[in-house]
Amino acid sequence: MTELRHLVSIDDLSLTEMQALFDAAKGFSEDLTAHSKLCPGRISASLFYEPSTRTRLSFESAMLRLGGGVITAADMRVSSASKGESLADTVRVVGGGYADVLVLRHPSEGAARLAAEFSPVPVINAGDGSHEHPTQTLCDLYSLWVERGRIEGLDVVLAGDLRYSRTIHSFAYALARFGANILCVPQGGFELPDYVMQRLREEFGVEPVRANASKMGELAAESDVIYMTPQKPHQLSLFTDAKGWNVSHVDAVYMTRPQTERYKAGEGEDLSYLQLGKSALAADSLRDAVVMHPLPRRDEISAEIDSDPRSIYFKQAARGVPIRMAILAALAGELPLLDSPPAAGMPTYPVLEGENPCPNPNCISNTETRHAVPRVALASRLPLRVQCAFCSQRLVVGAVGCLATRRHHEPGSPGLRRVRPEEMRFFLDAQTAERAGFPAAGEAHPV
Ligand code: NCD
Repeated sequence: MTELRHLVSIDDLSLTEMQALFDAAKGFSEDLTAHSKLCPGRISASLFYEPSTRTRLSFESAMLRLGGGVITAADMRVSSASKGESLADTVRVVGGGYADVLVLRHPSEGAARLAAEFSPVPVINAGDGSHEHPTQTLCDLYSLWVERGRIEGLDVVLAGDLRYSRTIHSFAYALARFGANILCVPQGGFELPDYVMQRLREEFGVEPVRANASKMGELAAESDVIYMTPQKPHQLSLFTDAKGWNVSHVDAVYMTRPQTERYKAGEGEDLSYLQLGKSALAADSLRDAVVMHPLPRRDEISAEIDSDPRSIYFKQAARGVPIRMAILAALAGELPLLDSPPAAGMPTYPVLEGENPCPNPNCISNTETRHAVPRVALASRLPLRVQCAFCSQRLVVGAVGCLATRRHHEPGSPGLRRVRPEEMRFFLDAQTAERAGFPAAGEAHPV
């Protein structure tokens, strides 16, 4: 039996699988109406706990174009969620014969991961809080690939609210994996979150350096621009001048709106937000950059550049249909685009004792405590790096217990090297480990 595949994070797909999805989408886009024999009898369910226009409608259009059907809960606030029904119960019900694939959007980070644990059918993450939005990223990468013929080596600007934009986080991880260079042009105070930066550096080998963005003109005038390249070897010092990486040419500008619905009280007040209009686009380095936006936009892209041939955001939105046709047909098992079994992801382990170590109040492990059993994902053994298996935020671990010896070690201690990952249990601190029956292993000198 083939293993059930979900699309929760962009990391769930290998680069080869993504390329196969782009190729299939390209084929579909030649005639969107010619593929209604691919998924007849299949039903997708849209479970939307947050507003949506493009994502929900393009998914539904994609399933209908594949010959399947859709059932839709466009606003889960008018479902039994308002009676207190949990996400875990909802996906068990809807995945239990009502639908063959679930498309879920939810305000809590990690919601789609939790749904995948309970769903008997594939779950597609259509946006979970400010965490990830992998299918928008596939649409964005597909657009770049169609426009530029490659992704590797492109210089891509990520601009605006990089802190709360889930589209940015998934896109940044994927760009790094494809070997594209990222230029961060954040709105002041809305830089990439630390956990995203850490993942980019430590998992994807990205090296951030300051950039001299004088040739980017207005767009970068008020921003501290950071250049991040996954290209190896890291010999940036050979290429950078005293002011940092010299930006002379940009392939794409990806603009995002302020994610005001996620701001804490007082955050972003009096924000004079970045703006891309005719004069900003006149900058030397942007002369042949495509302008992208996941939409909806507010004022950050002026309507005066809609007719500029570099503005591709409406084409990008249109490409949501063929790429989502490819995703649905692949997850339904109707197109052999995905490997089986999937490439091994990060191993995850239960937390043995005590409180949830995830510090993120908006993580599903803290918002749906009835069903979410806190889990830790092991990003690296040496040095030890662990993150919440739901929302990917870095976790502080003060002690690691060994199930075989029932002793605990400090994270940097030599004894920990002998503990097999599947025997590791993670604790906030030594006291919690001791309370759980894991006394100290007695190593005097951590290294
Ligand atoms: C994005 C989202 O929902 O994160 N929209 C989309 O899916 N195209 C971007 C946004 O809302 O800013």
